[in-house]
Amino acid sequence: MNLHLLWKAVHLIPVLATKNGVTSKSRKRIMPDPATEPPVMDPVYEALLYCNIPGVAERSMEGHAPHHFKLVSAHVFIRHGDRYPLYAIPKTKRPEIDCTLVANRKPYHSKLEAFVNHMSKGPGAAFESPLHSLPLYSSHQLCEMGELTQTGVVQHLQNGQLLRDIYLKKHKLLPSDWAAEQLHLETTGKSRTLQSGLALLYGFLPDFDWKKVYFRHQPSALFCSGNCYCPLRNQYLEKEQRRQYLLRLNNRQLERTYEEMARIVDIPTKQLRAANPIDSLLCLFCHNVSFPCTKNGCITMDHFKVIKTHQIEDERERQEKKLYLGYALLGAHPILNQTVSRMQHTAEGKKEALFTLYSAHDVTLAPILSALGLTGARFPRFAARLVFELWQDREKPREHSIRILYDGVDITFYTSFCQDHHRRSPKPMCPLENLVRFIKKDMFVALGGGSTNYYEACHREGF
Ligand SMILES: *[C@@H]1O[C@H](CO)[C@@H](O)[C@H](O)[C@H]1NC(C)=O
Ligand SMILES: *[C@@H]1O[C@H](CO)[C@@H](O)[C@H](O)[C@H]1NC(C)=O
Repeated sequence: MNLHLLWKAVHLIPVLATKNGVTSKSRKRIMPDPATEPPVMDPVYEALLYCNIPGVAERSMEGHAPHHFKLVSAHVFIRHGDRYPLYAIPKTKRPEIDCTLVANRKPYHSKLEAFVNHMSKGPGAAFESPLHSLPLYSSHQLCEMGELTQTGVVQHLQNGQLLRDIYLKKHKLLPSDWAAEQLHLETTGKSRTLQSGLALLYGFLPDFDWKKVYFRHQPSALFCSGNCYCPLRNQYLEKEQRRQYLLRLNNRQLERTYEEMARIVDIPTKQLRAANPIDSLLCLFCHNVSFPCTKNGCITMDHFKVIKTHQIEDERERQEKKLYLGYALLGAHPILNQTVSRMQHTAEGKKEALFTLYSAHDVTLAPILSALGLTGARFPRFAARLVFELWQDREKPREHSIRILYDGVDITFYTSFCQDHHRRSPKPMCPLENLVRFIKKDMFVALGGGSTNYYEACHREGF
């Protein structure tokens, strides 16, 4: 099967003039499939995809099923939207990005003003501790570190609206008088994830009743709840970090680039590297703000390209070597197990939430994607969404099927547990049992070592 033919690009990135020497030509490219086409070796292009600049007509295959199928539940995992850097480049001015939400500033969204208005009436105190102490929307003229920007809010208003059109208007997933128990909302304790979740929810259910909305707090970025202790997972992670370190060490051009940048900002190379400058540069890049200059010179697009190229190489090697897969299988198991349990309950006619939202991070989505066997999936961009849909066959009500979508692309048949099904069946769906078998059993087979459950696998010796 030729992936490139199957998933031919469908839409364009808007043409933007920009600082930092990106030509309008490099912005006007066809968008590839985020899940099934491998990254190309054009770092600027990859960076643009990562920014996920709002305004592009979104691709969306959510909710596509034959007529005799009924949508039973949807489980949505998101990465927070565009944010301010987590780290500052020492001795340079902080990027001047305004985190207030202003309707007449780009990127626009018709619901932005109403969103801010609704949030200002929100009883944040009703959420699970410590979420109750977080602001429901950003209001700083100069963003704080890691804060969600207007771009990030707009990205998730768009996500919510898109899911509303498909799941509510078309498939009537929730009744108009939906009840609090029909939603399950969970977020990590960062303001950017809570606010992203609220923006998506507002796009999905505009002017929702605050009394029916409750966000639960998830302390772990892996969403592993009571099952986080897993020594073998940590061992895999250490080996993976060692791999990463060696790859960096072997990249002479990268090393020289860090040295040059360190000279420009006049700090030791080690200190610059520790400040993770690509995080700041990506933010400047996504916001069309010039890279910093000092009396010693300027950080340039060439520096940016070298670091970004290295990131792409790192991602590629990570997928090739299986260390990350081991980490991912163990890291993603608890949340996948929880999701599949909810689906099974629903399929058995028990009461469960119909719409589940996990507002999370790149380090949440990346292991899930790897664990599902999506070796070609791109690293989660800002406001990335991964959706599991549960469907019931009206003609055979006991049969349930799933679909899995990543950034609007149907990736069901790229997963390790639905690939074979696709070859045998004309149905564009995968049986729920395939996912169940994978989570309860085959995941551990994939890990090797003879373990048959999570606890055994986590405590296996002699890795
Ligand atoms: C980016 O910045 C340049 C230079 O200030 C400006 O001319 C251009 O319009 C900006 N592009 C966008 C998309 O805002
Ligand atoms: C998996 O789900 C089952 C059923 O909900 C639960 O009993 C079990 O503890 C879960 N295991 C893990 C490791 O999350």
